[in-house]
Amino acid sequence: MNTGNLTLDPMIPLPYVVTRTAQETRDTFTLELKPGNGVQLLHFNPGQFNMLYLFGTGEVPISISGNPASSDLLIHTTREVGAVTQTMRKLKRGDSLGIRGPYGRPWPVEEAVGDDVVIIAGGIGLAPLRPALYHLLSHREKYGKVVLLYGTRSPDDILYRRELEKWRSRLDLEVSVTVDRAFGNWQGNVGVVTTLIPRAPFEATNTTAMVCGPEIMMRYVAMELQKRGVSTDKIYVSMERNMKCGVGFCGHCQYGPRFICKDGPVFRYSEVKELLSKREI
Ligand SMILES: Cc1cc2nc3c(=O)[nH]c(=O)nc-3n(C[C@H](O)[C@H](O)[C@H](O)COP(=O)(O)OP(=O)(O)OC[C@H]3O[C@@H](n4cnc5c(N)ncnc54)[C@H](O)[C@@H]3O)c2cc1C
Ligand code: FES
Repeated sequence: MNTGNLTLDPMIPLPYVVTRTAQETRDTFTLELKPGNGVQLLHFNPGQFNMLYLFGTGEVPISISGNPASSDLLIHTTREVGAVTQTMRKLKRGDSLGIRGPYGRPWPVEEAVGDDVVIIAGGIGLAPLRPALYHLLSHREKYGKVVLLYGTRSPDDILYRRELEKWRSRLDLEVSVTVDRAFGNWQGNVGVVTTLIPRAPFEATNTTAMVCGPEIMMRYVAMELQKRGVSTDKIYVSMERNMKCGVGFCGHCQYGPRFICKDGPVFRYSEVKELLSKREI
């Protein structure tokens, strides 16, 4: 609902202006955006996404990666993979793009109150999880232990490096990073992110897990969490499929009996477990 904005039609993008760009890694960049004239920035919940429309190129779903408590900026971190994301990477300060949203079911930050929370990200999967972490840290007293486990292909693929270092220095947050392949002066963990789970400091029977990364990674992470005793009802994953409308009209993002744009992208693992174990859905 775009109350206070130029339009109430969920299918019409609203104009936004790029205020800052940052190259995070070789193939991943962040855009900071502010609403154009007459547009009001809408509140979002951690885990929701927007449809970003690049004039003359196309429209893609991208998760919001900024702080849900920030009322003046919209932040998206994107990996360059094809036509639209390549065009997006070329945007400069002052350029415009169209945005509609926010859409989708968010991370269960309210349901997790009182629990230990473990956030497990693979690669670009840290971007959709960052708003959840911001939320947990700004309501820190409501949660038990908060643990972030992050895995990337190599040290050069680590996102938000400075922020990770800042988070790591906090006494009320446990951060572990691992890389599949080490090189240079990397002195940290080497191995896939699942190897961090057995020794991560959370009480399995009282834990909510939020997981985002490639599907195969999410499947193995969920298996490892279950081995530790975390219930499949308390493991949440964020799913991706090609989208067109983003609001449950077109059927493009159908995933078994569900639509990822409307019923997800965040699902309880128990809801998607059977589908995730099949290769082509
Ligand atoms: C709910 C949701 C949230 C998303 N959030 C983010 C986000 O925060 N940041 C982000 O970078 N991406 C995100 N994505 C993925 C993003 O939408 C796609 O990468 C984008 O649509 C690709 O568009 P394109 O035109 O650049 O590439 P296309 O021309 O569509 O694809 C180019 C090539 O890349 C492959 N490809 C497409 N999508 C992906 C993908 N997700 N992973 C790997 N290969 C892919 C295609 O198979 C093809 O081979 C999200 C997707 C969904 C559904
Ligand atoms: S993208 Fe149209 S139904 Fe989900």
